[in-house]
Amino acid sequence: MSKKNEKLISHGDIPEWTVSAVNSLLAGLKTVDELTYFHCLRVGQYSAKLAQSAGLTPYQQKLAELSGALHDVGKMGIDKNIIHKPARLNESEYVAMKSHPVMSEKIVQPLAADKNEFFTNLLPAVRNHHERLDGQGYPDKLQGDDIPILSRIILIVDTLDAMSMDRSYRKGLPLHVVYQELQKYAGTQFDPHLVKIFLESHRFWAPQIDPESLENSMLKKVA
Ligand SMILES: [Fe+2]
Repeated sequence: MSKKNEKLISHGDIPEWTVSAVNSLLAGLKTVDELTYFHCLRVGQYSAKLAQSAGLTPYQQKLAELSGALHDVGKMGIDKNIIHKPARLNESEYVAMKSHPVMSEKIVQPLAADKNEFFTNLLPAVRNHHERLDGQGYPDKLQGDDIPILSRIILIVDTLDAMSMDRSYRKGLPLHVVYQELQKYAGTQFDPHLVKIFLESHRFWAPQIDPESLENSMLKKVA
């Protein structure tokens, strides 16, 4: 196992202020971009479920939930017309778009100050959520196991959400098409082991996600 994953400890303290701090950042995102805000809430919930299905500990599931919730918070620094452009991005727009994982990391970074362990663990998950297994992702072109497992989890459920939700310019794609896409790119973009777990478990945990209560669940204190 790589050094990065060895760092994903299984147990640890989660400070009482953790969820309040995350909610504060999400409230900032909501003021500029509600679509991305709700996307982040869903990805946070899905990440926790996939982490649980993959056998990660409750501590790691909380890391998955909150890193999933914060993965795109850096998009608040990017022109909304680029983020939601209903067409292919031109080169300069694509460069701007690709800066968002690093911006998300910068926004979360102060919470990891003074060696706060929980947020120190969370930072790489946020920064590397667009890395691909074959090294063709960004921002660090990490490969395989060098990509934090939480980032590999986020990438799968991020794809689920991006493909299945309705957009202003198109209907969401049916689930079987999403599943096919994940299978097609397992091993190149996605971690094949996690894709297998996702495909086996999604139908069991999907009904447990209630979009109406997502905002309330984010307000829950850490158990
Ligand atoms: Fe992203």
